[in-house]
Amino acid sequence: MEPIDWDKKYQAGEVFWDRGQPSLPLKQYLERNPIRGKAVVPGCGRGHEVALATQHGLEAIGLDISPTAIAEAQGLYPDLKERFLVGNLFDPPQEMHHRFDIVIEHTCMSGLPPNLRSRYRHGIDLILRPGGLLIGVWFINPARAIGHEGPPYTFSVESLSELFAVGYEIIEDYIPEVAFEGREGRERVRVLKRISP
Ligand SMILES: C[S@@+](CC[C@H](N)C(=O)[O-])C[C@H]1O[C@@H](n2cnc3c(N)ncnc32)[C@H](O)[C@@H]1O
Repeated sequence: MEPIDWDKKYQAGEVFWDRGQPSLPLKQYLERNPIRGKAVVPGCGRGHEVALATQHGLEAIGLDISPTAIAEAQGLYPDLKERFLVGNLFDPPQEMHHRFDIVIEHTCMSGLPPNLRSRYRHGIDLILRPGGLLIGVWFINPARAIGHEGPPYTFSVESLSELFAVGYEIIEDYIPEVAFEGREGRERVRVLKRISP
C-alpha cells in the first residue's frame, strides 16, 4: 500500500475532511464533561479540535506529520501558535512520552490504512499516561466512492474494540446525536481509559 503524502494533500488544498470547525460530538462531550489536564490531538490537521479543547480548559497541543497543516493551524489560531507541533505519532519525541492525561482522536485513525493501526495504538500508548483517557470521535465505516480505497478507510466498531482490547477499558460509548452532514450515525464517541502501562 502506497504511503500517503499528507503534506502534499495540504499543499494542494485537497483536505475534504476539514469542515472548518471543530467536531460537533467532541464539542458536546466537552460541554457535558468538564475535564482538565494535559491533552494532545494527534493528526490535528488545521487545529480546530485543539482550539476547542483549550476553550474548554484543557492544556492542549496538536501534533501533525504535515508541516503545511501545522502552518495552517498556526495561521488560523495565532494565539495558540506554540501549541501546534510537527511530529510523527508513530515516533513521538521522548519529552511527550506518558506526559498526557488525555488524547483526543478525531479522524486521525480513519485516515490510516489498516496496516498502520497497530502503530497508531503504539503511538497512543507512548504518549498517554496510565490512567489517562483516550477520548475518541471514531469515524466508523466512512462512506467512500466505488473503487476509492481511502482515506478514509473502512473502520468498524469491531476493529476499534479489537485494537484496544488489551490495556484499556471502555468508560463511555455511544452514537452521538450531533454530526457534520454526511457523518450522521457513522461516528461513535468511545472513551477509553488506559488501565495498564
Ligand atoms: C484525515 S486528516 C484529519 C485531520 C484533522 N484531525 C481533522 O479532523 O480535520 C488525518 C491527519 O493525520 C495526520 N497524520 C497522518 N499520519 C500521521 C502521523 N503518523 N503522525 C501525526 N499525524 C499524522 C495527517 O497529516 C492529517 O492531518
